[in-house]
Amino acid sequence: MNSKNILLCVTGGIAVYKAVALTSKLSQAGFNVKVIMTDSAMEFVTPLTFQAMSRNDVFYDTFDEKDSSKIAHIDLADWADLVLVAPATANVLGKLANGIADDMVTTTLLATTAEVWAAPAMNVHMYDHPAVKKNIQTLHEMGVRFIEPSEGFLACGYVGKGRLEEPEKITDLVISHFSKSQSRPLAGKKVVITAGPTREQLDPVRFFTNHSSGKMGYAIAAKAAEAGADVTLVSGPVNLTAPAGVTVVNVITAQEMYEEVVSRFDDSDIVIKSAAVADYRPVFTSDRKMKKQDGTLTVEFERTKDILKTLGERKKDQILIGFAAETDNLEEYAKKKLTVKNADLIVGNDITAEGAGFGTETNIVTIFHRNGEMQPLPLQSKSDVADALIAEITRLIKEHQE
Ligand code: PMT
Repeated sequence: MNSKNILLCVTGGIAVYKAVALTSKLSQAGFNVKVIMTDSAMEFVTPLTFQAMSRNDVFYDTFDEKDSSKIAHIDLADWADLVLVAPATANVLGKLANGIADDMVTTTLLATTAEVWAAPAMNVHMYDHPAVKKNIQTLHEMGVRFIEPSEGFLACGYVGKGRLEEPEKITDLVISHFSKSQSRPLAGKKVVITAGPTREQLDPVRFFTNHSSGKMGYAIAAKAAEAGADVTLVSGPVNLTAPAGVTVVNVITAQEMYEEVVSRFDDSDIVIKSAAVADYRPVFTSDRKMKKQDGTLTVEFERTKDILKTLGERKKDQILIGFAAETDNLEEYAKKKLTVKNADLIVGNDITAEGAGFGTETNIVTIFHRNGEMQPLPLQSKSDVADALIAEITRLIKEHQE
């Protein structure tokens, strides 16, 4: 971890004392740590404490340029491999969500292109306030990753969710983040991923489709490629650019997706079916534009081929992962899909939950295992859901090998 730079932004709450321990733990783990403090944070602990723990200058005044050859907040923003806001107050979350830059912490946060993680700490009712929830959701959508507060006694006397996560735990997350980016657990694996909707044509100008944007499947493809896999992404029509190192095969209809996926199945190690495939298509597709007529129009539909089920029937030693997008009875339907489709995992999303499902930047999923284990994950970016899924797949591969 010696070459990794962590910029710790400390904002004002009683949990500032834990940020001192966090600075110490990160430094002990070998990271280069620099600290920026807000005025409120300095009401709790002096900069000298952080300076001693990090062995670096501490920054708190945007206009105090310590080195005339540099602009401090830009220099720090560029220096960081990871920016940690801990503790993150309701105030700093509100400012960042709304693009406000009025001190050293917030100007640096807006200037950085590094990944930003926030570890909130505040009173339980503040954390539950709709304005704070909305800001967290906005920041999620901007790509900020959250380390959720833990539950327990709060300094204000309440018991509940709002405690800054323990410094040891945050340090472990940072270490595993950087170790993961260095390891390639799917190296040598051939992975087929499906994403997006399908379109079932009625005539040359009309088709039936759904709201899938492809974001979930593209995020999985990006993470699988980062993990070293040889990735083929069979994609329905979406407005996304291909992730680096991924081969994209574009399809329109469920039948085309069926052909592209099934023909690659024997040669693949892992198949992840996150596409929202049409279950029905019109029996008749007109090659001329259908003209409107008086009265109602009845369109007759027929079933498309169930790709996941076909793969489940043909499975040898591939790892097969399906998704379940449900509005009701998620657990019951997801478990049923596990058996009926002979999948190894089903990733279930309740698409009625805010921040979950179609079109959003975030998702809330539960991973269902064949042994009955259910793994609910919190609201997080689709990229973090993809990370969690890759971690599960890595675990399954190890189990298969044992
Ligand atoms: O694309 P986004 O906007 O990011 O949204 C993500 C998502 C909501 C589309 C994704 O998270 C998701 O849930 N994808 C599966 C949606 C779906 O069609 O679920 P389903 O319950 O109808 O299908 C179950 C499984 O069978 C899925 O793995 C699906 O790919 C597969 N299937 C369905 C029909 C069919 N004919 N063949 C299939 O293989």
